[in-house]
Amino acid sequence: MTDSKRIYIFDTTLRDGEQSPGASLDEKSKLEIARQLAELRVDVIEAGFPVTSPGDAEAVKRIAKEIKGPTICALARALQKDIDIALDCLKPAKRSRLHIFIATSEIHRKHKLNKAKDEIVRIATWAVKHARQHIGEVEFSPEDASRTEPPFLYEVIRQVIDAGATVVNIPDTVGYTTPFEFGSLIKGIFENVPNIHKAIISVHCHNDLGLAVANSLAAVKFGARQVECTVNGIGERAGNAAMEEIVMALDTRKDIFAGKFTNVRRDQICKSSRLVSSLTGMIVQPNKAVVGRNAFTHESGIHQDGLLKLRKTYEIMRPQDVGFGETRLVLGKHSGRHALENRLQKLGYKLSEKELALVFDNFKTLADRKKEVFDEDLTALVDKEVTAAPKTYELIHLGMRTESGKAPWVSIKIKHKNKTIEAEGTGNGPVHASYQTIDKLLGAKTRLLDYQIRSVTVGEDAQGEVTVKVAGEKDEVIIGQGLSTDVIEASVKAYLDALNKLAHKISKKSPTAHGV
Ligand code: KIV
Ligand code: ZN
Repeated sequence: MTDSKRIYIFDTTLRDGEQSPGASLDEKSKLEIARQLAELRVDVIEAGFPVTSPGDAEAVKRIAKEIKGPTICALARALQKDIDIALDCLKPAKRSRLHIFIATSEIHRKHKLNKAKDEIVRIATWAVKHARQHIGEVEFSPEDASRTEPPFLYEVIRQVIDAGATVVNIPDTVGYTTPFEFGSLIKGIFENVPNIHKAIISVHCHNDLGLAVANSLAAVKFGARQVECTVNGIGERAGNAAMEEIVMALDTRKDIFAGKFTNVRRDQICKSSRLVSSLTGMIVQPNKAVVGRNAFTHESGIHQDGLLKLRKTYEIMRPQDVGFGETRLVLGKHSGRHALENRLQKLGYKLSEKELALVFDNFKTLADRKKEVFDEDLTALVDKEVTAAPKTYELIHLGMRTESGKAPWVSIKIKHKNKTIEAEGTGNGPVHASYQTIDKLLGAKTRLLDYQIRSVTVGEDAQGEVTVKVAGEKDEVIIGQGLSTDVIEASVKAYLDALNKLAHKISKKSPTAHGV
């Protein structure tokens, strides 16, 4: 870490982001996101919190083994068991970091940990020293730092740096602080911790008051060198600071940040956003800064007129800088495999022969139904097909009859173990009827926790993308997704995708980092 103006991006999408209510990532999806984060060139990937579940530990190990480029980090409480498990998972990584935390604020000390200040310091310094015997980079986080008495916080920081912490992270764990206050806290740390120059100061802000990005930027202004953030700002409760907003704010306002910069590839931002949204099932709001569907859409006539005269009148960032492709007609039903491959490469996808063949089949089916196939259609297809679970159950046929005032009727044929099974049924609406019929056919005992639908592009023949959240018999939570120009078919595919994942036991762990 040499260039004094470089701001390091520590991405915690796979750890804090995965703790979002509603997010759910299996090992394959985590690996895919980690691969994309490496393409994006973040500096550090926090890959998980290994002690929370064997699945999380396995995912950290695989990321450490397979992902080259960024430093791979794992989280641990200041406990020997946590630290040793996390260190073991990090072993295969070329560059690795252990992240240790313990709460320091009065409210956490008294009501969560029941420990006095000196005991917290003793545990923190012991944990850092123990870890440093095995790994070169140790990051320490005084959890709830922004609500910790500043003199005590300074003392903790001094002691963990003396114990060997190479990075000290200042979390605003409950999203309570404001930019002026947080900036002053960072300034105070630089002024009151005598050995502060021996460590990198990092910040980690939550978004409970909608200030996570503003607080992080205020900290950068006062000397923080690392920002912890997540793609699309997903994370505990209201989320974490959004990576794309931090990167683009620094990039767009170099003037006020004295030329500070990140190493992130801006042209990979939208692709990363789409991938994380698709794999977590967390839809990006249309007006989300930088990556929302409307982020570069100008509705008012005055704005449109200004843009035509000079884009900079109303546009502070160029959409192409963040990889926000214009909605373009790319392919039709006569397009061949080569044209598809070419277009996908331009969109940043490198598919294997097998993956390309699968996407091509689906593209042909889509092109038969839809006159114009846009970039968004292709990216949605790739994201669904390449990440889909093995098809234990495959939809062969869906028949349906609906009439006002009458219960809808559906008929469903599914391929399972080389046999075709079929059933008919009714329900309150066509989606309900389909899901009940599938349950009857497969003996599935699930609970539908959430159902969302969005259109991939505009137009009457647009594809609908359905995302369902389903709880299995053991309360394991699964996200399923389906894509079709027919929204009922998309709904059926989404439910079958969830059942396929359940059949392959791809589920989300339950414990999280907070409150432990
Ligand atoms: O928000 C928080 O305090 C955390 C720590 C584990 C860094 O996520
Ligand atoms: Zn956090």
